[in-house]
Amino acid sequence: MVVVCWSVKGGVGTTVVSAALALDATRRGKTVLLVDLAGDLASVLGVDGSGIGVSDWCCASGGAGVEALDRLTVEVAGGTRLLVRGGSSWSEAVPERLVGLVDDLAARPGVVVVDAGDLWTAAPPVGPPAGLVDPLLGVAERSLLVTRACYLGLRRLSRQERRPTEVVLVVEPGRALDRHDVEAVVGAPVTIRIPMDPAVARSVDAGLLARRTPRSLIRAVESS
Ligand SMILES: Nc1ncnc2c1ncn2[C@@H]1O[C@H](COP(=O)(O)OP(=O)(O)OP(=O)(O)O)[C@@H](O)[C@H]1O
Ligand SMILES: [Mg+2]
Repeated sequence: MVVVCWSVKGGVGTTVVSAALALDATRRGKTVLLVDLAGDLASVLGVDGSGIGVSDWCCASGGAGVEALDRLTVEVAGGTRLLVRGGSSWSEAVPERLVGLVDDLAARPGVVVVDAGDLWTAAPPVGPPAGLVDPLLGVAERSLLVTRACYLGLRRLSRQERRPTEVVLVVEPGRALDRHDVEAVVGAPVTIRIPMDPAVARSVDAGLLARRTPRSLIRAVESS
């Protein structure tokens, strides 16, 4: 099963949500591959993400086949495997390699969680190309828009064509919009509500999200 997490605004919590879903599925005994298209997961999870990664594989025309992808993964505390981003510019990605990557991820047993990042702002070279993101969303069983109840973010969503199957709402105190407003604008249900919790920010800053996952985050995703 492919699960893609994405946003239309930076800094809303997409990487935290991707990591939390992957850690939770691992805890429940699934084989989990977490795929970093955006670049922050290794730091958040406290592992070395400096090696060759998925962007490098996608840029290597004539390079090793999909069987090499597993060698580009690192183990995260708890057993989740992380396919790191690598250092290549997404602008150099080879179209046939992108097709090969999507086919491989879609065919994998277990759970594949992808952090696709902010699809509004982060275009290549920083963020993944539409030629990867859209086919991935096409094979994904769950396409999760991560958002706050933010009018500006929701406006952006309505100005672009991608639509999620579900919404992950990062809940902040003091917002005028609520869950129902978000669902009405997005046209998809809020299936996960993540409370803002200073413990999450502290564990992200320390690279300890995998080893010391805050209880609020575990509770928020475990029933999803
Ligand atoms: N539930 C939460 N409670 C408190 N802080 C959070 C929560 N989720 C995320 N944060 C903090 O918000 C910041 C952004 O989180 P994160 O990196 O997951 O967002 P992002 O959408 O992936 O950002 P980017 O667009 O830069 O990739 C981080 O400093 C993180 O610690
Ligand atoms: Mg991120």
